[in-house]
Amino acid sequence: MAGDQITKQRTRRRVGAAAVAKPVSRPPVIEFRGVSKVYSSGDMGLDQATFTVDREDFVFLVGATGSGKSTLMRLLIKELEPSDGAIRVAGHDLREIPRKRVPFYRRNLGVVFQDFKLLPSRTVYDNVAYALQVTGGTRREIRAKVPDILRLTGLSTKLHNYPDQLSGGEQQRVSIARAFVNHPPLLLADEPTGNLDPETSIDIMRLLYRINRTGTTVMVATHDQTMVDKMRRRVLELSAGRIVRDEAAGLYTRDESTREFARRLRAPGAPPPGLV
Ligand SMILES: Nc1ncnc2c1ncn2[C@@H]1O[C@H](COP(=O)(O)OP(=O)(O)OP(=O)(O)O)[C@@H](O)[C@H]1O
Ligand SMILES: [Mg+2]
Repeated sequence: MAGDQITKQRTRRRVGAAAVAKPVSRPPVIEFRGVSKVYSSGDMGLDQATFTVDREDFVFLVGATGSGKSTLMRLLIKELEPSDGAIRVAGHDLREIPRKRVPFYRRNLGVVFQDFKLLPSRTVYDNVAYALQVTGGTRREIRAKVPDILRLTGLSTKLHNYPDQLSGGEQQRVSIARAFVNHPPLLLADEPTGNLDPETSIDIMRLLYRINRTGTTVMVATHDQTMVDKMRRRVLELSAGRIVRDEAAGLYTRDESTREFARRLRAPGAPPPGLV
């Protein structure tokens, strides 16, 4: 700590005002302080949740059905307002974002749901392009970015297909492509593998892992305990709206390649490829 101080002072003296103005450390990407959500029905969605998530983290949100995972996600995208407490995203208090600015705020978030939510009358390409159009992307930007993201998500050969001409795993990859095409600093996924078989789920997790490695913070709500155990990432567990476990995994190396990662996920315990 003292060493840090000294370095900072030296930097200041050497490069002057510009260095002083620069923030020394960035705020956490997500910060919940005593956040509660009581629905108008009286149901407790979240109960005094306090935690932070740092940049580039990969966090699993687990807990029984009704424990508050989706409530937490919906609070984060400002679809719900907390009854108590404060939520900050990248240092910004969500209470201070007026209604009309919410769409701008959401441009910093990628959101993936269990049921994909694709536009059925649009092709893969157009589903992804649409996400850029609505956030004001130019034609040129769309032409540059969509093929890139379709390559990353392994959909280059399916760009003319409609959602009903795709498997469940492919549809989920389209919804991830759509969520990630703007390269948001934060990606939220609520049960992204809920409707998929184990092998396809590994595929989706591998994609989320790859996205995380580009520097995006990822938070995934899931019931898939096997996957959580194998991924060895941080786990936040909810029970009746309360955070009952926050385990910073620390069991993995950041430089594991996606191939090594997928191999580990398929290792004993997971069904061998081809079985499902
Ligand atoms: N719109 C709503 N109105 C009233 N109560 C709600 C509403 N949405 C959720 N709840 C309640 O809030 C609590 C938390 O629900 P939530 O949907 O966040 O759980 P979850 O962990 O996502 O569950 P699941 O694993 O089934 O998706 C539950 O008791 C639920 O009944
Ligand atoms: Mg839920």
